[in-house]
Amino acid sequence: MGSPGDFRRARERGPAPARVSIMKPAKVYLVGAGPGHPELLTVKAANLLKSGDVIVYDRLIQEEVLALAKPSAERVFMGKSVGRHDSRQDEIHELLARKAREGKTVVRLKGGDPFVFGRGGEEAEFLAGEDIPFEVIPGVSSALAAPMSAGIAVTHRDVASAVAIVTGHEAKKDQDRVDWGALSRIDTLVFLMAVANVRRIAELLVAHGRSPETPAAIVQMAFWHDEHAVTGTLATIADEVERAGVKPPATLVVGDVVRLREKLQGSQRDLRRRADRRSRFEPSPGADQLLRLATGAAGSQLLGFALEAAIFDQLEQACPAASLAPRTGLDAGALEEMLEALVALGLVESTPGGFRNLEIASRYLTSGSEQSLKAALLEQIALSTSWDALAGYARGGPTVRAAAPDPDPAAADGAGREALARFMAPAIVDQLDLAARGPILHVGWGGGAYVDAITRRWPDLSVTTCNPFHAPDPLAALAAHRRAGGYGCVVLSGLLASCARGEVDALLAAAADASDARGLLVLHDAFVPGSVLPPADLLLGALARHAARGGCRTWSTARLTGALRGLGYQVVTAAPVAAGTLLVTAERQARP
Ligand SMILES: C[S@@+](CC[C@H](N)C(=O)[O-])C[C@H]1O[C@@H](n2cnc3c(N)ncnc32)[C@H](O)[C@@H]1O
Repeated sequence: MGSPGDFRRARERGPAPARVSIMKPAKVYLVGAGPGHPELLTVKAANLLKSGDVIVYDRLIQEEVLALAKPSAERVFMGKSVGRHDSRQDEIHELLARKAREGKTVVRLKGGDPFVFGRGGEEAEFLAGEDIPFEVIPGVSSALAAPMSAGIAVTHRDVASAVAIVTGHEAKKDQDRVDWGALSRIDTLVFLMAVANVRRIAELLVAHGRSPETPAAIVQMAFWHDEHAVTGTLATIADEVERAGVKPPATLVVGDVVRLREKLQGSQRDLRRRADRRSRFEPSPGADQLLRLATGAAGSQLLGFALEAAIFDQLEQACPAASLAPRTGLDAGALEEMLEALVALGLVESTPGGFRNLEIASRYLTSGSEQSLKAALLEQIALSTSWDALAGYARGGPTVRAAAPDPDPAAADGAGREALARFMAPAIVDQLDLAARGPILHVGWGGGAYVDAITRRWPDLSVTTCNPFHAPDPLAALAAHRRAGGYGCVVLSGLLASCARGEVDALLAAAADASDARGLLVLHDAFVPGSVLPPADLLLGALARHAARGGCRTWSTARLTGALRGLGYQVVTAAPVAAGTLLVTAERQARP
């Protein structure tokens, strides 16, 4: 085994990457998140959030609720965002099925209750048709919680013995399916999705016999920091809504129960709130999101350039690469390729109308967002990465080939790998169960971070770490850490992408030798070698492909699986943990 430089020079290209498939789909939970506040989640919803591998969430989900997810959970935003992100329902279905078939427990988190105007019924129907196991967890529906938050009980012994929950969307349609005559005779009416049609709803109710003096109230953003209620009568509520500038989400309540509001308003709310209201909306991207933003050299260069060129600022509305190119002075072909790579990094989505920001990019990467991390990220990335070559390619297109600007690739590779491994360590450890696996040997980059993350969770475990790249004879250095009885788990981090095939085999054999009879082997690596700077077009294409397929450029999952099998291991998981890296865990069946 040689130095990192030798490794890179000797690197071979492996066959096409393949993913290890897990046949039985995992379960999908359709979970109601309630009206917003985390303390209004059910205990079951909170527990599922803490354990789910993938959280697919809609717009009206507060950051504090999402923050309950485990750090390594993949969070996928699939909702409408201020009239922009109208992810189609079939895309959501496809995503739920795909993630479940990858063996990942999916938490499909919906505002309120999944079956109250939440399209939960459709998703359940789809999953049943696909033979994917699912469970529906009810949530506190805004239909009841929003009126309650404004001091309105939707039923009352004296004034209301029936309540109807109605969509406000129907009121604007030509073929309105609502029986307005029947509805106008029900004591309490709760309209969801009604802001745009309040006037029409009030007119229809009055036209069908309800008194114009019937009290009405609209409650905006119940249980959010900017909750606001407006009251009036059927005759006045539309003007009041306009005057107050009420915006969705808001719930309209019609009926005599609204009169009780004054008496019930005194109900003291005692939900835990942070002192500073703004702090509830502090930037708090999950670990998986941050990992996507720091996916080694390729991802960092791309992100650095995209931030510098203000690409995210231009993608708040869907825009094809060809239209964006002249506005940014970039080559259309190169830009298209970069945007595809941003899609692979999970920052941007590709829609029929062009590319547009996903929620993470809107929120953290645009200049105008209150939660923007743009300046901080740019500064951070600039410290470790140069994207000059990429910028040249972006401006000049595929014909411009930049010279490799790497005077000391070995040092750059080491620094990049160390930073990436350190950054990833907590999320990797989060995916492991090492309770009965001690003692642990960590080999490679990020040793200190792995030791910290492991001992924080299992304080009694003994962890030894070594980086063979720091030694003149790396295999001898590794052998020096062998212990009688072997290690219960050996973690290899950041080594494989710099190794040639023979070197990987030697490394794996040494790791197997260091393990005990039932040892767990954990491998974590980047898809693209840290210091290698092929022409930018190749780099971006490679990153997009590797991230999409879950393979590694220098060492495919299939070959890794074969080599491990030869050493008596069975691969348990082999999947991308973030867009730029791969995690493999393998269990030893018996000593070969
Ligand atoms: C698509 S429906 C989903 C309803 C959800 N499944 C539930 O049970 O609450 C969205 C509508 O719910 C209402 N809504 C949701 N959250 C709300 C909140 N925090 N305050 C007031 N109304 C809310 C609004 O009428 C909004 O247009």
